[in-house]
Amino acid sequence: MTVFRSVVRGVGSYLPARTLTNAELADMVDTSDEWIVQRTGIRERHIAAKGEKTSDLAIAAAKAALANAGMTAADVDLIVVATSTPDLTFPATATSVQAELGITRGAAFDLQAVCSGFVFAMATADQYLRSGDFKCALVIGAETFSRILDWNDRTTCVLFGDGAGAVVLERTEQPGTREDRGILVSRLRSDGRHRSKLFVDGGPGSTGTVGHLRMEGKEVFRHAVGMITDVIEEAYAATGYSSEDIDWFVPHQANLRIIDGSAKKLKIAPNKVVVTVDKHGNTSAASIPLALSAAVGDGRIKKGDLVLLEAMGGGFTWGSALLRW
Ligand code: ACO
Repeated sequence: MTVFRSVVRGVGSYLPARTLTNAELADMVDTSDEWIVQRTGIRERHIAAKGEKTSDLAIAAAKAALANAGMTAADVDLIVVATSTPDLTFPATATSVQAELGITRGAAFDLQAVCSGFVFAMATADQYLRSGDFKCALVIGAETFSRILDWNDRTTCVLFGDGAGAVVLERTEQPGTREDRGILVSRLRSDGRHRSKLFVDGGPGSTGTVGHLRMEGKEVFRHAVGMITDVIEEAYAATGYSSEDIDWFVPHQANLRIIDGSAKKLKIAPNKVVVTVDKHGNTSAASIPLALSAAVGDGRIKKGDLVLLEAMGGGFTWGSALLRW
């Protein structure tokens, strides 16, 4: 019996021109290149220019993804932007993307699950595509975290960067086996008891200010590997696949130690792990599509490959997705 699945037709990304190196950060706060590299694996990150908004990054990534798919904006009837740094409190950044692309049909909305945002957005779009409500979705992760960092706090400002990545997902009929192309399974989780471990200390309904990112880094670190591996094992159980079958592991890029620890626990070989955290830092919801774009662009991820995504972030939220490219 055939089924409908969401197949990735194209991927694209955008990074602001300005890079900020660890050496430059060492001139701003009491830190060093050695400390940052050893604890996080990060060497540099991109920072949005003055006046460059999250929607600008998202639009550039969306256009690149459409070009990569060989499709046009006229094909798209759903836009989901995962972001925790929207241009404005409202309307949704996705509506700016929609307007700039000249799309007047379908729906466009934002989704907020911090670093897990892209996995949550992809799973959400997948539900709508499989149900038949929409046919073609742009799923975008876009962030300007530089705007919510406390640049005097060395424990957080060294970790994050700006950027955007996007995929075009299309509803397609497949044979209904685990060899199908498209999203085979996704697993989403949240546990709000942990919400004070990683948060922004402002918002329209509380302080009336934008606020700054605050994090208990050690606590986040302590939970990360366990949560990540749990949802991946659930994805394996749902499909019968295991780490041996995975062609590419594309994790959220928060910290090289978390990525290495997760891959090791799951027994995924290091040469199957896509790493961009060294060059991008943690770009929150943008990190997975940025990493996908890099690995597709340089020829690593190819049609037919089995790709495993995972993310974990504020809330806490966490999730996994297993798809065939
Ligand atoms: N430069 C130099 N020293 C620093 C810096 C810095 N940038 N930041 C902290 N330190 C100091 C601390 O003050 C502390 O000094 P002390 O011992 O005198 O008190 C010392 O370094 C050790 O600090 P820890 O916080 O214990 O360092 P740790 O090894 O835990 O590394 C880090 C910190 C990198 C934040 C780590 O806890 C981590 O990666 N946590 C996960 C958080 C994360 O990735 N969050 C991203 C969002 S969530 C997600 O996406 C998964």
